[in-house]
Amino acid sequence: MASQRSGLLLCNLTLLVLFSVSVGAGGGFRGFRRFHQEQDTKQRAVFEQQWFTQKLDHFNGADRREWKQRYFVNEAFYKPGGPVFLMIGGEGPANPAWMQNGSWLTYAQKLGALCLMLEHRFYGESHPTADLSTDSLRFLSSRQALADLAHFRTVTAEARGLANRKWVAFGGSYPGSLAAWFRLKYPHLVHASVATSAPVHATVNFPEYLEVVWRSLASENAECPVLVQKASSTLMERLKDPKTYDNITKDFNLCSKLQIQTEMDAAYFLETMAGNFMDVVQYNEDNRGFEGATGTNITIKVLCGVMGDTSLGDPYARYAAVARLMMDTFSIKCLNISYESYLGEMTDTSWNGPAAGGGRQWVYQTCTEFGFYQSTDSPNQPFTGFPLVYHVKQCADFYNVSAEQLADAVAQTNEYYGGYNIRSTRIVLPNGSIDPWHALGITQDITPDLPAVFIKGTAHCANMYPARSEDLPQLALARDHIFLLLQRWLKQ
Ligand SMILES: *[C@@H]1O[C@H](CO)[C@@H](O)[C@H](O)[C@H]1NC(C)=O
Ligand SMILES: *[C@@H]1O[C@H](CO)[C@@H](O)[C@H](O)[C@H]1NC(C)=O
Ligand SMILES: *[C@@H]1O[C@H](CO)[C@@H](O)[C@H](O)[C@H]1NC(C)=O
Ligand SMILES: *[C@@H]1O[C@H](CO)[C@@H](O)[C@H](O)[C@H]1NC(C)=O
Ligand SMILES: *[C@@H]1O[C@H](CO)[C@@H](O)[C@H](O)[C@H]1NC(C)=O
Ligand SMILES: *[C@@H]1O[C@H](CO)[C@@H](O)[C@H](O)[C@H]1NC(C)=O
Repeated sequence: MASQRSGLLLCNLTLLVLFSVSVGAGGGFRGFRRFHQEQDTKQRAVFEQQWFTQKLDHFNGADRREWKQRYFVNEAFYKPGGPVFLMIGGEGPANPAWMQNGSWLTYAQKLGALCLMLEHRFYGESHPTADLSTDSLRFLSSRQALADLAHFRTVTAEARGLANRKWVAFGGSYPGSLAAWFRLKYPHLVHASVATSAPVHATVNFPEYLEVVWRSLASENAECPVLVQKASSTLMERLKDPKTYDNITKDFNLCSKLQIQTEMDAAYFLETMAGNFMDVVQYNEDNRGFEGATGTNITIKVLCGVMGDTSLGDPYARYAAVARLMMDTFSIKCLNISYESYLGEMTDTSWNGPAAGGGRQWVYQTCTEFGFYQSTDSPNQPFTGFPLVYHVKQCADFYNVSAEQLADAVAQTNEYYGGYNIRSTRIVLPNGSIDPWHALGITQDITPDLPAVFIKGTAHCANMYPARSEDLPQLALARDHIFLLLQRWLKQ
């Protein structure tokens, strides 16, 4: 599997390595699957891509280099005098499925809005530089991305006579944070924002993610995370004994005999297996059928069903059965697992490289802005064996970024945006209780003008997907509530 563990956030707009999505928001934040390429091509026909000229470096007036950024337009709902909705792309290719379906279009229809979606620099087809070398990636940051949005907003408003219209920003996951920060940093350009599942607080270590995974599994069945914990620690023990490697190779369907040469190999293997659970929890019951969604029919219920199935053997054997089930689901014949090959993929600097779908770029952003490392450094979580040092070492291995640089960068991100103390107005921050990212989101109304919308029982970005009859009532209510806020704010 290519770059399977990049710890993405994505709101399912694209399937990157192992799982993710995104609204153009790519990366999402869990594994990246492989098939986003086909998806991307399939949908391009429907909403034609357009190109916008941007500066490479918005913060250096002497640098004249330019590049072309991809965007999409849907004018179907626009009524003269209506607002302009801008969907913000994130850590993966912008997925035109969002130009066709999604709750923002329902709002657009009711409010007569023009809909635009701008792909994030360095993802999808928006290539500001000739390659993905560390030197080129210096131009990849949320600040440059916000400046892209501001310039796109300004020029498009002039060109289309929309300067006096009210602009509303939308985004889910990392682009949710961008939606909030766009309003925060450019209040004269953005009237309001819907910042879904937005991790607005940067942090190097993020063990809380796996604590939410524990609680989400436990809400299905109290025994489930306990069994996962047993299995994961058994696997960790067996990785210390080369005599067990033939069995592990067979149990987890590896392409060739397991080799553990370094701590990084063991951590990578354990993290990949834990990733099966992390991805399913993050996108549980995701809006399947919508091409923008990441979920599969593998849900928390299904995984906990396998973990509770005594006919499969001990918890370790059930854990291996989960891994094989996931491979079947994604039609993966066998797994090639080694940190060495992951390192090779992540340091390939070509736009055609195995991690160029977003993995190399997103992990760079985590090393230079956000951290967000989903480590096992908490006793209250189900997995074993991928501590913070394993994640931090990747910053050095992939980009020559040291632990000190990482810590400074994360502190500066919070200084710049405010973290949990964000102060602004007309930003709504919806989030789902079983989404592990909610731990870095805003959980309570900050002010009446900065409301949180908490959706009990839903996963990452649920409120952005098109409504379905089987949606939880609180999810339907949340969508309605966001609409009422928009209606009110657009009158201000
Ligand atoms: C959008 O929704 C329609 C109707 O539900 C569906 O037929 C279509 O496949 C969806 N399109 C995408 C891109 O998901
Ligand atoms: C490998 O698996 C077989 C069958 O389950 C078991 O009998 C054997 O003891 C295992 N070998 C090791 C080294 O654990
Ligand atoms: C998921 O769907 C596939 C194909 O529709 C089916 O073969 C499989 O049995 C389903 N798995 C579960 C766990 O429902
Ligand atoms: C596994 O890796 C080897 C060498 O790294 C490669 O030749 C092979 O194609 C890979 N297999 C799969 C299924 O990815
Ligand atoms: C890595 O960074 C250090 C300190 O910033 C620098 O001295 C060194 O040359 C860099 N190594 C590479 C391979 O770029
Ligand atoms: C979402 O909001 C609710 C209540 O407003 C809070 O309890 C929950 O922790 C929040 N989560 C996020 C991600 O903001």
